[in-house]
Amino acid sequence: MSDSQRRALGQLWDQYGLEVSDGPIDLREQFAKDQPVTIEIGFGMGDSLLEMATEEPSRNFLGIEVHKPGIGHLLRAADERELANIKVYANDSVKVLGHCIPDASAECLQIFFPDPWPKRRHHKRRLISRGFLDLILPVLQHDGVLHVATDWKHYAEEITALLHGHDGFRVTDIPWRPKTKYELRGIKLGHKVTDVAVRKI
Ligand SMILES: C[S@@+](CC[C@H](N)C(=O)[O-])C[C@H]1O[C@@H](n2cnc3c(N)ncnc32)[C@H](O)[C@@H]1O
Repeated sequence: MSDSQRRALGQLWDQYGLEVSDGPIDLREQFAKDQPVTIEIGFGMGDSLLEMATEEPSRNFLGIEVHKPGIGHLLRAADERELANIKVYANDSVKVLGHCIPDASAECLQIFFPDPWPKRRHHKRRLISRGFLDLILPVLQHDGVLHVATDWKHYAEEITALLHGHDGFRVTDIPWRPKTKYELRGIKLGHKVTDVAVRKI
């Protein structure tokens, strides 16, 4: 972690950070304004979250990430831009979704380029699974969108089958999203990017 990322975490956590709680929190009380919520899981260095929060001040953005340098990077940039529509959990999304986020509280949940775990013996570590979708479903509002992107062919097939095959979702148009850091690396390597989006029924 760079010095400035560490400093940002120390100085700005109280302003932007949320702690894991035993039960669901009232998301409306966490943000300056009561407006629709987008959740981004695994935001990495936070560039996509930052761009969306800047472009869409009439939405609130809740990021969930375990990578501390990325969280520090995001907090520093959010502070520089004086953004009041971002909050962050520095914890495992399984724990955060399972314990802290109330039912029907998010209009959109996005997961851009989850770790692909390319080796077959590591596939079981992949974040997107039937069990994980069952954690996401209650958190979304009716008609809420789940948007996932990946640049790994096998994972793309797995994600498409899981999302399209889940009876709690229907297929929908792919929303706009910014390009991410991990995506640009994949594109340079010649990877094809797949976006999958579904809506809660
Ligand atoms: C391949 S990176 C992609 C980062 C970013 N979305 C991008 O496209 O540049 C995947 C990110 O997911 C985060 N991550 C992995 N498992 C997670 C979990 N259970 N909860 C929250 N974040 C997680 C990792 O720390 C990492 O930053």
